[in-house]
Amino acid sequence: MRSAPERGPHLRFELARTGTRMNQHITASQEIADPTHAQPDASQDVVRLVDLKRRFGQTPAIDGISLTVRKGEILGIIGRSGAGKSTLIRCLNGLERPDSGEVFIEGREISRLGERDLQPLRRRIGMIFQHFNLLSAKTVEENVALPLKIEGRPKAERLARAAELLELVGLSEKAKAYPASLSGGQKQRVGIARALAARPALLLSDEATSALDPETTRSILTLLKDINRQLGLTILLITHEMEVIRSIADRVAVIDAGRIVEQGPVWSVFADPQSDITKSLLGAIRPQLPTELAARLLPASGAETILRVDVAGEAASGPLLSDLATSVPGAFRLVHGGIDYIQQQPVGTLFLSVPGSDASHLADVITFLKARQARVEVLGHVANPV
Ligand SMILES: Nc1ncnc2c1ncn2[C@@H]1O[C@H](COP(=O)(O)OP(=O)(O)OP(=O)(O)O)[C@@H](O)[C@H]1O
Ligand SMILES: [Mg+2]
Repeated sequence: MRSAPERGPHLRFELARTGTRMNQHITASQEIADPTHAQPDASQDVVRLVDLKRRFGQTPAIDGISLTVRKGEILGIIGRSGAGKSTLIRCLNGLERPDSGEVFIEGREISRLGERDLQPLRRRIGMIFQHFNLLSAKTVEENVALPLKIEGRPKAERLARAAELLELVGLSEKAKAYPASLSGGQKQRVGIARALAARPALLLSDEATSALDPETTRSILTLLKDINRQLGLTILLITHEMEVIRSIADRVAVIDAGRIVEQGPVWSVFADPQSDITKSLLGAIRPQLPTELAARLLPASGAETILRVDVAGEAASGPLLSDLATSVPGAFRLVHGGIDYIQQQPVGTLFLSVPGSDASHLADVITFLKARQARVEVLGHVANPV
């Protein structure tokens, strides 16, 4: 089992200082502290899990997970079906008891508390679900106000809070409607408003956009990001879709078979995935060579060599291609690719075609790109790239 060190701002710093290749596995002992980046303050952790374990019969659903969710951040947890995501979330709100390990919510250990002591703590955690879980016999407004009714709040206060939250999620005109008359996206907006009613410290989202179409998914994710920014709300987002992580998470933890296999800032995990699971989850959203060109690739030498060049951070923000053209005389052409921005960080993949008749020219191109911290892979050869 490989270790899963957390990558932080030091990654970029280290790359800049030492020219280390991006795909090198950074271990804790290799980390170089960035003096400009203050250490996270542990008192600001909304959730802290310490070596959490939970098994069902012979199946370890959670197999030694330690992680923190910091105040105000959006942490994404991604994994395949059966990886242990929902079990993890249930351990956080006390619905599941871990076999061992500790669960701290706002600094308080909750895993051994009785039901009575758990109740007030559960109010600190709002939750949204894939299938919304609204009460069909109650109006939108009543659904939103429900957590406050359970708390015994007066009606006027409940209605005022519901109105405020419906405004926040853009559904004021639906206050008196029933859930059956709403679209999926509107139902999830009601779910979000209800989850926020009791002013929680943490919002848990378990596949909250999985039942929605891509456009509605985007609008719900935008709403969650806005709420995170406006209210400083901490969000723990569980998903099996990397696109969801890319859209709104600050950090991501990849889990498989109940363990964290990789974690770090989203842009860095996207730029340089370490584990096979992460690469496979990134799958289709990683840039690929156009199929028409991929179909013509030959393993042996052809007239041109096709390179995949992955760049991130500083390597992606400089004038890489014009510097290549100036520094390494000889032709090359860009056949596909571009630069994307994840958390304001440039992350990109360029597919270059280099004339293959002169092996030393190709070697010079690769050496130049690697010296600029790009990751370079020879994909194959083609008779003609266009
Ligand atoms: N109550 C239970 N009884 C027995 N096995 C369980 C129980 N809950 C979960 N498991 C098992 O624990 C493992 C993790 O399940 P979990 O529901 O946490 O996965 P998940 O990552 O949420 O999957 P999905 O993406 O399909 O929702 C699975 O092997 C599952 O079969
Ligand atoms: Mg699940």
